[in-house]
Amino acid sequence: MKILKQYIPLFVAGILAACSPNSQQGSDEQEQKDEQMTSHDIHSYSHPAEAVITHLNLDLTVSFENKTLEGSAELDIENKTGVNEIILDSRDLNITKVILDNGEETTFNIAEPQPYLGSALTIAIKPNTKKVKVFYSTSPNAAALQWLSPEQTAGKKQPFLFTQSQAVLARTWIPLQDSPGIKFTYNATVRCPKELMALMSAENQTSRSKDGIYHFSMPQPIPSYLMALAVGDLEFRELSDNSGVFAEPTLVEKAAWEFAEMPQMISSAEELYGPYAWGRYDVLVLPPSFPFGGMENPRITFATPTIIAGDRSLVALIAHELAHSWSGNLVTNATWNDFWLNEGFTVYFETRIMEKIYGKNYADMLTLLSLMDLKETITEMGDTSRDTHLYLDLEGKDPDDGVTDIAYEKGRFFLTSIENAVGRERWDQFLNKYFTSNAWRTMDTKTFIEYLETELIKGDKELRNTINYEAWIYGPGLPSNCPVITSSELEKAEAASQAFIGGATASSIDTSGWTTHHWLYFLRKAGESAQTITTERVAELDKAFDLTNSGNSEIQCEWYQLAILNNYEKAYPAMESFLIHVGRRKFLKPIYTALMKTPEGSKLATSIYAKARPGYHTVSIQTLDAITKYGK
Ligand code: BES
Ligand code: ZN
Repeated sequence: MKILKQYIPLFVAGILAACSPNSQQGSDEQEQKDEQMTSHDIHSYSHPAEAVITHLNLDLTVSFENKTLEGSAELDIENKTGVNEIILDSRDLNITKVILDNGEETTFNIAEPQPYLGSALTIAIKPNTKKVKVFYSTSPNAAALQWLSPEQTAGKKQPFLFTQSQAVLARTWIPLQDSPGIKFTYNATVRCPKELMALMSAENQTSRSKDGIYHFSMPQPIPSYLMALAVGDLEFRELSDNSGVFAEPTLVEKAAWEFAEMPQMISSAEELYGPYAWGRYDVLVLPPSFPFGGMENPRITFATPTIIAGDRSLVALIAHELAHSWSGNLVTNATWNDFWLNEGFTVYFETRIMEKIYGKNYADMLTLLSLMDLKETITEMGDTSRDTHLYLDLEGKDPDDGVTDIAYEKGRFFLTSIENAVGRERWDQFLNKYFTSNAWRTMDTKTFIEYLETELIKGDKELRNTINYEAWIYGPGLPSNCPVITSSELEKAEAASQAFIGGATASSIDTSGWTTHHWLYFLRKAGESAQTITTERVAELDKAFDLTNSGNSEIQCEWYQLAILNNYEKAYPAMESFLIHVGRRKFLKPIYTALMKTPEGSKLATSIYAKARPGYHTVSIQTLDAITKYGK
């Protein structure tokens, strides 16, 4: 019965369970519990209930010439049911041989590759096999890897390599069980050119080794999407005993200044939800082609240089990635359908850190801007769309499709609504316990609801109705108890935008004391009323505030959209250089989308994209090929 059950698709198992009311008794009960512990991951070929990996020992040589990583991945396995094969995930790997712990070569099969999932790699093992060692090299096109030429770096002299494993790209550089529900420890040896430094999501040294050989150890269990490696001309600056910044030499001082409040963020986070569990917390500033804002690789967040604005106004991103050290890295979403458990909790936590350090007025600005984004996203998706449920259905879809404001912002506002219902003190106690008692484990949506029921709702029917988690998690759009957000600071930007739209001159606007966020609000509102402003009025704004040459990436992104909407062509050269220089998908997406709306715009988009595309990461290319109708 036990083995059989693992092959039954979950929905059939559900029907079976529903048809046999007595199955909840005796040993069946335990079986059912076991089954719930391992939620099925549709984005991995592995069968962790049979044989699961527990440790990885990686040995890789980095070749910038061939654009390959070459070496071996030795996996410790637990053969739970005594099966004769273990299934790993792989994609575009060149596998040469596999040996078992007795040193003997074993047979393996690589299945027909599927889009984004890659191939099941089935390795013949024995019931008592404890290790398999896979010899392999990566493909130059491995989706997780971006190989940068010296021109694409700040220093322009050395090449650079970085990985991006989330969501299902780890399998393009390591053969493993690529599912967030499976955690393992790792060790690694990385050999790279001796002018360069290698860093991983592990214990790192802070200076270059003489021989280009680096040894890493990650003694705490992590899921595969947190596997990370970067190799480049890097330097370190300490910010405190347990934190610092890695960046290219020409950037490292600026980065250290920008992130100087990181130690405070760490202690604020600890005051909120318990001790930081990972030893050090460092940030690595990557070259601008990094497709994300940040990635919460344990012990070393990878970050885009576009948050270095020179005024510390974009550091909420660091608070976000730091918060993942609890929500995500300690308590991990079991499958990508449960993605909101990672990101919704993290945005909530991020905002609490920001509020603690910069005050409520500041946090309210961030929150209101996010709520505006969320409402726009829901309007675009359609407010009855299945994609607006917190619990996702990614069957047949790339998990990357689930990366929307729903998981992040609807997730956060759900948690804020619970806070409003029970009060901050009780909610914080709940969260503290949630992180502590589920640390180092995975969490799925159903288990979270059970936890909420037993630890917070505790049979209080009225409270259950108020919270209404069913509507938030399994329903569309924004439920009626969605928090109302006001921001006294942004009211100033609201008044200014109304005045400007009403005809007041740009130079008459009082922008004293404005932060980046006032500007973002103002520009967004000006864009919403596009019909009533003209090219001349946009030019007037530029003349008064020199927005085209703003060094702030968030403001630039908003400004270029306004310029496109109003045919303000004077901003186009700066916009083009931004699009060629920066590979962060969050910025590229709206700008290219705005351009594609008119025939002249789409011509410009096509010509810029042709120049910029070779410098973008696969993750961005995948999104932008569709938007710009590349090659069509
Ligand atoms: N873990 C995410 C990035 C991610 C999610 C990569 C899913 C691949 C698949 C990271 O923590 C994140 O959310 N980054 C945001 C920044 C944040 C401040 C919202 C980003 O990159 O924009
Ligand atoms: Zn995140």
